[in-house]
Amino acid sequence: QPIHLADYTPVPYLIDSVALDFRLDPQETRVTARLSLRPNPASREQGAALVFDGERITLQSLVLDGVALQPGQYHADEQSLTIANVPQAPFTLEVVTTCNPAANTELSGLYLSGGVFCTQCEAEGFRRITYFYDRPDVMARYTVRIEAEREQAPILLSNGNPRERDVIGGTTRHFAVWDDPFPKPSYLFALVAGDLGAVHDGFTTMSGRTVELGIYVLKGNEGRCAWAMESLKQSMRWDERRFGREYDLDVFNIVAVPDFNMGAMENKGLNVFNDKYILANPETATDLDYVNIEAIIAHEYFHNWTGNRITCRDWFQLCLKEGLTVFRDQEFTSDLRSRAVKRITDVKTLRARQFPEDNGPLAHPPRPDAYIEINNFYTPTVYEKGAEICRMMLTLIGEQAFRKAMDLYFDRHDGEAATVEQFVACMAEASGRDLTQFFTWYSQAGTPAVKAEGHYDAAKKQYTLTLEQQVKPTPGQLEKQALHIPLGIGLIGPDGTDMPLDLEGVGTLNTPLIELTEPRQSFRFNVAQRPVLSLNRGFSAPVKLEADLSTADELFLMGHDGDSFNRWEAGQRLGRRLVLDAYHGTATEAGVAAYAAALKKIIDDPAVDDAFKALMLMLPTESEIAAALGAEVDTDRVHAARDGLRTAIARQLARELDAIWQRTDEPGPYRPDPASTARRALRQTALALMVMGDRTDGIARALAEFEAAHNMSAEMGALAALVQVDCPERETALERFHARHAHEHLLVDKWLMLNAQAQGPGAAARIARLTTHPDFRWTTPNKVYALLSGFVGGNPAGFNAEDGSGYKVIADAILRLDPINPQVASRLATSFRSCKLLNSSRKTAAQAELERILAEPSLSRDVFEIVSKIATS
Ligand code: ARG
Ligand code: ZN
Repeated sequence: QPIHLADYTPVPYLIDSVALDFRLDPQETRVTARLSLRPNPASREQGAALVFDGERITLQSLVLDGVALQPGQYHADEQSLTIANVPQAPFTLEVVTTCNPAANTELSGLYLSGGVFCTQCEAEGFRRITYFYDRPDVMARYTVRIEAEREQAPILLSNGNPRERDVIGGTTRHFAVWDDPFPKPSYLFALVAGDLGAVHDGFTTMSGRTVELGIYVLKGNEGRCAWAMESLKQSMRWDERRFGREYDLDVFNIVAVPDFNMGAMENKGLNVFNDKYILANPETATDLDYVNIEAIIAHEYFHNWTGNRITCRDWFQLCLKEGLTVFRDQEFTSDLRSRAVKRITDVKTLRARQFPEDNGPLAHPPRPDAYIEINNFYTPTVYEKGAEICRMMLTLIGEQAFRKAMDLYFDRHDGEAATVEQFVACMAEASGRDLTQFFTWYSQAGTPAVKAEGHYDAAKKQYTLTLEQQVKPTPGQLEKQALHIPLGIGLIGPDGTDMPLDLEGVGTLNTPLIELTEPRQSFRFNVAQRPVLSLNRGFSAPVKLEADLSTADELFLMGHDGDSFNRWEAGQRLGRRLVLDAYHGTATEAGVAAYAAALKKIIDDPAVDDAFKALMLMLPTESEIAAALGAEVDTDRVHAARDGLRTAIARQLARELDAIWQRTDEPGPYRPDPASTARRALRQTALALMVMGDRTDGIARALAEFEAAHNMSAEMGALAALVQVDCPERETALERFHARHAHEHLLVDKWLMLNAQAQGPGAAARIARLTTHPDFRWTTPNKVYALLSGFVGGNPAGFNAEDGSGYKVIADAILRLDPINPQVASRLATSFRSCKLLNSSRKTAAQAELERILAEPSLSRDVFEIVSKIATS
């Protein structure tokens, strides 16, 4: 039974302060909560009963205004605590409960990871710690006292500032008290206690306050925190400079744990991380790991203002904090590294994760209006499309107005639980622009298709651009409205430079931007020569652009577009066209040769960045090709068509690839700076192509690279190239990798992921076999993501094997995981979201597995919501 946005009502009682007292014990932790409450003047139900959320906790006692409540005066069940009669004036409530952290395999609430007590409360985990209004619009001040065995847990951490710590005389126990002066919702509560190692540093804020920084890790990992600490300081500095936002507590702590459902969590003053996104040194982390760590540290840190100081009124507003914070972390990375490369990388992620979601049974608006299980809505649409919406507002109103709007938002809503409407109102007010139609981006699901038709009238020297927008129906939303779409534009002359944008009825455009607001709209430009159209520059709007460009125009854009995003985009469109031709058996040698020649020019151009070259050399993914085909897809043929084109390109570019190989050899020590990262990206892309172009020579190079590697990036790059082809050498190399790194859990994950990517027959059997490997663990999300999600995402041909073996291994895993950790099971269940695109034998096989899952009587809400949506679509 879904919960609806339209049903929002304020709580009948407010909680002003919370004093929590934890007596930590692995099997039976005792929690005393002392709450100050009062009737909520904004409530529409005066005199209502007090109904708190609660889950998997045992009530020990209840005391209201100092008087113990008797069993008849309250009711506690599996999901709530109800007290029918409470004072209609301020009152206090003391709730004592117990819980069992050691038995908590869902990793929500208080649990143990690597022997350390830790918490995850977003979205609804706090109710597994104590009875409470576990919803974001109830903001309270917290003090926390933690008591534990000194030896078991010498480190005791919670939100806010440390106030007190001492031993408890005559016992083996000690305690600490933490005080958080900022009111916060329960999902931002955190507690960590254990025998942790630490790294400390400091930061002086722009107003001169000093902040103590700490990163806590399992003992032995202290030497792998330097990059994370550096990233944290960079983030703090950047938020001051770019948004004027200063940190607000005396300490900022980060804890890394090996068992964590998601990437990380922004708890006030005490961020908790999946250790994969903290630990790094050249021997264990790849370039991608370094980049991810930097970005995720930033993301969680930026939540301090966008999420914590201003939080969400209800979970429907999730993109208010997530979309905005992703946008902020994208800007951070763009300012620190290459803006163009970051934009292309983000669009690749959007296309790989969000477009398929928007194009199938799980499509939902960035601000959904109904859910069964909120944890199912931490989606690419809420996060990544949410960020695109913020970016579009920036594009529409400009840098200055955007900053003004952000200042207004922080000013007006600090300390509040806000809505998306309130955020957009700040954008509208600060810019003077009407964003009413724009708001539809938040409420409407589906990726708009924009069709562009250009016509040049040589006699009148006029270029007419006709645009049409369309959104296909999505589940529950059959009628769609026209969106307000900002489109970056350039009209490129024959010499490769942009011509002035003289728009009829407007004059010369100051900003190279047009706004599409109608279902169909024409723009007429006065322009001296026939232009080549470069539209949606910088990917200004998250749409599918269908432009009527000839191959010659695409090749021209690949070589000349001044907008590097669109230069890459032209290459992608052309590459996609060639893979589709190969799929349909209509490919021509001349077509491939022209494409390869355009790539050669880019590779040979010393002015072009290595990272950009690497991106140009990568074809659209198999799932993008499948989406372009639209229906009746044979994934084996997609794989063969794409690999065939890669082989052909690699052969035509053999000399260039070899030159890259020679030039990018790097004897010096590993450095994660942008230039070195770019060089390695190009080297690895070249290697992967060389293996396709000439198996014997390519495999030999990859093996040599693997053996000589003195950093994890090179080691992984070599293996990633090897696992693309079915050859005995890859098995030996995988075994060698395992033997070298079996003691290091994050490297075992990489080994699982490489195995998952191994192309060729028998892929599903390999996965099934590895789920019984002693290094695999169902209870650790990272293992599941590496092997099983790694299979779905990194081996589409294997997952969609026509005999259904790939579907079966994933369905088995979902059923196995659901009783252990429904959030992880449910994430894995989204693997089936694109099955409707496939041919009938595959569709039937997938449907049978979905029905097998639905037949399980004790299915979690999480998995039920996802699987039923897919199965009934
Ligand atoms: N707020 C976190 C972040 O994006 C994500 C935590 C979500 N966790 C969950 N169980 N739904 O940074
Ligand atoms: Zn976030």
